[in-house]
Amino acid sequence: MTDCHGDGEGDRSPLELYEQLAAQGDEVRVLKRGKAEEADVAAAVQLLLKMKVNYKQLTGQDYKAGCPPSENSVAPDDRKAADGATSEDTVDPWNVSTDSAKGVDYDKLIVRFGSSKVDKELVDRIEKVSGQKPHHFLRRGIFFSHRDMHQVLDAYEKHKSFYLYTGRGPSSEAMHVGHLIPFIFTKWLQDVFDIPLVIQLTDDEKYLWKDLTLEECHRFAVENAKDIIACGFDVNKTFIFSDLEYMGASPEFYRNVVKVQKHVTFNQVKGIFGFTDSDCIGKISFPAIQAAPSFSSSFPQIFKGRKDIQCLIPCAIDQDPYFRMTRDVAPRIGYTKPALLHSTFFPALQGAQTKMSASDANTSIFLTDTPKQIKNKVNKHAFSGGKDTVEEHRKYGGNPDIDVAFMYLTFFLEDDEQLEKIRQDYLSGALLTGELKKLLIETLQPIISQHQERRKQVTAETVKEFMTPRPLNFNL
Ligand code: TRP
Repeated sequence: MTDCHGDGEGDRSPLELYEQLAAQGDEVRVLKRGKAEEADVAAAVQLLLKMKVNYKQLTGQDYKAGCPPSENSVAPDDRKAADGATSEDTVDPWNVSTDSAKGVDYDKLIVRFGSSKVDKELVDRIEKVSGQKPHHFLRRGIFFSHRDMHQVLDAYEKHKSFYLYTGRGPSSEAMHVGHLIPFIFTKWLQDVFDIPLVIQLTDDEKYLWKDLTLEECHRFAVENAKDIIACGFDVNKTFIFSDLEYMGASPEFYRNVVKVQKHVTFNQVKGIFGFTDSDCIGKISFPAIQAAPSFSSSFPQIFKGRKDIQCLIPCAIDQDPYFRMTRDVAPRIGYTKPALLHSTFFPALQGAQTKMSASDANTSIFLTDTPKQIKNKVNKHAFSGGKDTVEEHRKYGGNPDIDVAFMYLTFFLEDDEQLEKIRQDYLSGALLTGELKKLLIETLQPIISQHQERRKQVTAETVKEFMTPRPLNFNL
């Protein structure tokens, strides 16, 4: 499908490619500074990213401005799997898989999806505009891709605020640690920018896709809301809603759903989501329901009827198809396109070839797991990048890039220096797999038990408060 070859880049030397990359980087900067057309900047950035991917394939190194390729550059051993030349990673709302033990090739995904990379410049800018140290999910490339973040920050600097929208498909009572990632990050964004947040619980979606009753899906929505609330959201700034409840309660929301439905054809959703003639019509029209919260007029009680407040959606990259569609229809129905911040996937215990799944207990660490279960799961199932014997490990060192315990630490260990020391020690062989796993266990156990404590405090009354349509504490 996506073809990075055939443009002659295969014939160039690493140095030539490096020089072209540097020139393209300059080009992008000039365009951005000159406030060029959005599409022109995007095209130049796409080309730059594509060249970076090719550069990495050719040299085995990441492109760094000011650092020409070293003489003896070689592609990594696992190049065949990592470059995806033999097969393409699968990333859509229902499937995530790759052949590479390192996980999905996210640079390639940016090129394929046409989004932009969260680069150092953007992270620095978020720091400047918010006045806060960037969250480690930003510092470490966990939220790695975006759409229109610069526009959101430009407006914010001019005192034009925005709101946050994220969501969850309640397919079971059990949530795992991976599900927390977007919520932890959304909470941080809400705190540093002090803005309203809406959270959609798509109980309707799960009813349409899974073998569950409406009652079950709705009950899961309410149960999941408790875990979401336990992340620490402020009831005065946050509205959580179940589609099954809110669609019937809000004419404004339903009007936006119908507007989207009128402007997207069956052919388009077939192309975006792969629906077929035998999918039920509920699935075919569902994307309009996930699109509607991207428009402030869907929440008149919060935005006082204003339809021009920009939306920012933090989500895992597999949700992007919904929002590509949303961004496509937005101008045609008189609305602003939502901006996005995309995260990588939280890997399964068995390895980064796929993400954690709530339906297989052994691939995941659940928010209900006891300290002992956490310990056993990590020790027994976490895929290790260590060597087979202690002797070999001491001699050759481990590979943190494919080690699941290390990957989980990048999500949950906040201290950058400590993390880097662990990485170095693992690489050198000074740190053994068992010791690395122990560090992860000791990091996760308190996080999970504190979550359980906070969840216990969430009463039915609190859930009701969050889920009641009402004004929030903002002057717009
Ligand atoms: N479809 C998502 C899921 O199955 C739930 C969802 C709805 C969502 N709206 C969202 C996720 C907005 C992220 C952002 O999990």
